[in-house]
Amino acid sequence: MIRVFGMHNIQPLLNKVYPKATTANGVYIYDEYGKAYLDGSSGAVTCSLGHSHPRLIPYIKQQLDKLQFVYRSQFGSEEAEQLATRLFEHSPERIYAHSFFVNSGTEAIETAMKTAVQYWQEKGFPSKQQFITRWKSYHGITVGALSLSGHPLRRQRFESTLEKYPRLKADLENDTLEKLTEEFVQVIESIGANHIAAFVAEPIVGAAGTALTPQAGYYQEMKKVCEHYQILFITDEVMTGLGRTGTWFGIEHWNTTADIVAIGKSLGAGYAPIAATLMTDEILEPIKNGSGLIMSGHTYSGHPLSCATANRVLEIIEEEQLLDNVNTQGEYIKQQLNVLKENYPVIQHVRGKGLMLGVEFDPARKGFQQKLIERCFQNGLLVYPSVGGPEGKDENGILVSPPFIISRSEADELLAKLDQSLNEINQ
Ligand SMILES: Cc1ncc(COP(=O)(O)O)c(C=O)c1O
Repeated sequence: MIRVFGMHNIQPLLNKVYPKATTANGVYIYDEYGKAYLDGSSGAVTCSLGHSHPRLIPYIKQQLDKLQFVYRSQFGSEEAEQLATRLFEHSPERIYAHSFFVNSGTEAIETAMKTAVQYWQEKGFPSKQQFITRWKSYHGITVGALSLSGHPLRRQRFESTLEKYPRLKADLENDTLEKLTEEFVQVIESIGANHIAAFVAEPIVGAAGTALTPQAGYYQEMKKVCEHYQILFITDEVMTGLGRTGTWFGIEHWNTTADIVAIGKSLGAGYAPIAATLMTDEILEPIKNGSGLIMSGHTYSGHPLSCATANRVLEIIEEEQLLDNVNTQGEYIKQQLNVLKENYPVIQHVRGKGLMLGVEFDPARKGFQQKLIERCFQNGLLVYPSVGGPEGKDENGILVSPPFIISRSEADELLAKLDQSLNEINQ
């Protein structure tokens, strides 16, 4: 068999030759020919500190010399404990007292699902095993997390292997709060609250909704319904969490809290594969006082090097007051995206909070999104694909989500490249 260099690593499009990234610094990634790309999406909405952060790299090197790996059922570590404490301190009302560390957002969601089921078992309600999710949502790629997800394009091939969880279809932006609440109540009553473990939602819908942002008051109402029917509230903050929307947790924009939270992406900020499932005392106590064993985990859970890295990521966000920059640059970019909306009628919606901004295009312009992403790439700008449309099936959106460290002049460069790309393909 002939071995050809460059053909053994599987990437999404099997017939495409991807450029190789060789170095990266700040908001820029450089390919093998030295071409610079402004990282307008932080990869997959991940690299919140940008690349090669000078105050992070030496710390990671130091940690590597100290402790790399211990197995979670043999040892704890100072690194994991410090990170869990920091997350607790940043949680709204200091409510997320416990963290379970995993390696990806998908795993954090799977752990959240299992924790919810186990919680009800330990409380003597073993029939509470179902989940209610929303029509437009993405919670991860494994069978459990994909079962929760309302992302038709990612589900369709595997539909027969997925659990059929009930999903809410009402329009988060345009339907009244009464209608949204009524739908939720109807779904609960049709299944019976004694079968439902939890309601799962992304505070702001990312890949499956182009930063779809529920109206004011929405989560407070949903939480009231959850409490009334004794259903847990799980927020998927894998994309929104840890500053991306301008607050530490996305749910804070609605002045409420969840029982269990999945975080990922910005936790390791691209420097380490780490994610976590956070939970309140109320959730952990019955498990601790019952079987005393939480039934989830992975070989690399609580990896000291990853935990130390994430701990330093959060410390840098605090020390450099990056949430202020997320809010300032986020407002500016959103305002300028609205100017582009005036100039390009193909843009139907601009939405989102902080540096999680969505631009949704007219779904009648088939292929526009893909052409735009490719043209941006040629022009040295990275943006992230997202879906939209009434059923969440149209590939017609992008997320603009640069690193938290982006400066005003870099934001202007991002916007100029987007404008140029829109102009070139709109001809
Ligand atoms: C809201 C949300 N949940 C879960 C996931 C899955 O995370 P991961 O890709 O790290 O498994 C993603 C990934 O995009 C996400 O956006």
